[in-house]
Amino acid sequence: MKKLFVLSAIALAAGAAQSQTVNVICSVQAEWCNMISTVYARTTGAKVNVSLKGSGEALAQIIAEKENPKTDIWFGGTGDPHLAAAEQGLTLEYKSPSLPQLHAWAQQQAQQSNFRTVGIYSGPLGFGYNPELLAKKKLQVPKTWADLLKPEYKGEIQVANPASSGTAYTMVATLVQLMGEDKAFEYMKGLHKNISQYTRSGTGPIKAVARSETSVSISFVHDGPGEKAQGFPVETITPTDGTGAEIGSMSIIKGSRNLEAAKKFYEWALTPGAQEMAAAAKQFQLPSNKSAKNHPSIPDFKKIKFINYDYAKYGASSERRRLISKWEKEVNSLPR
Ligand code: G6P
Repeated sequence: MKKLFVLSAIALAAGAAQSQTVNVICSVQAEWCNMISTVYARTTGAKVNVSLKGSGEALAQIIAEKENPKTDIWFGGTGDPHLAAAEQGLTLEYKSPSLPQLHAWAQQQAQQSNFRTVGIYSGPLGFGYNPELLAKKKLQVPKTWADLLKPEYKGEIQVANPASSGTAYTMVATLVQLMGEDKAFEYMKGLHKNISQYTRSGTGPIKAVARSETSVSISFVHDGPGEKAQGFPVETITPTDGTGAEIGSMSIIKGSRNLEAAKKFYEWALTPGAQEMAAAAKQFQLPSNKSAKNHPSIPDFKKIKFINYDYAKYGASSERRRLISKWEKEVNSLPR
């Protein structure tokens, strides 16, 4: 009788787990999103619905769903829009018991959002290039931001649009911090002449470089090795004059209808095992859990010259909106 009770309790618990659903907006590349959702569903019995969205697009959707949220978790994408969402009260305050296991930069991301987001990975901004295409066109590998303004790169460079892409917004914020706002906008106007296309997604440009459609991209350098592993001719470099880094983040949506399931997923996503799935899916950001194994393809942060990126300032909604609309008006509207 007792045994029967235990068995039915287990069956009930399994049934409850099976009926758990978690709706995730995923702002990293599809392979990683698919891997975590498949593994999580298989190991917990939960149903995971994933929608792929760039960081800026994800924020736009979460704002649009504000009165009636359909999303439970926002996984990945650059930290700036996660901070903007936190500030607008779109995400839930949640202090994970795993916070002490995370690197200081990931905990800081949590603290400065009043625990409405958390760092799950980090990665440096730099350039992607196609060595074969550069050699064919007799072009040098660009080494500094200034190099990208050289007339010989006209039509050779791609970067994403900062309104939809967190990668591109990281570039705008990095340049403003590196050069000062006026010089940074003069710089971006000069760069505009050499840009062949502003893509919607942050990884579009390095994929175009890898496929020999363009010579140079402005990209997160951890997006290079995954393309190279597929056999494409692509290398990355970080500018010697300094660069920024993203703190890829994760947030629980305020008003989530599956809060318990969302918290479970969130806790799982902070574990070393879950974070190591990035490298298994050929994405080489630095994991935020100190115990996660670091794959050798992860960029060596010690060799990179970083600016002291002010995440709180450039993650503030008003600053983000202001810089993006200034970029639209003063840069993107110019003829090329
Ligand atoms: C890629 C990178 C991530 C980054 C994301 C931002 O997936 O690997 O590290 O957070 O792009 O995407 P977005 O399209 O917003 O630039």
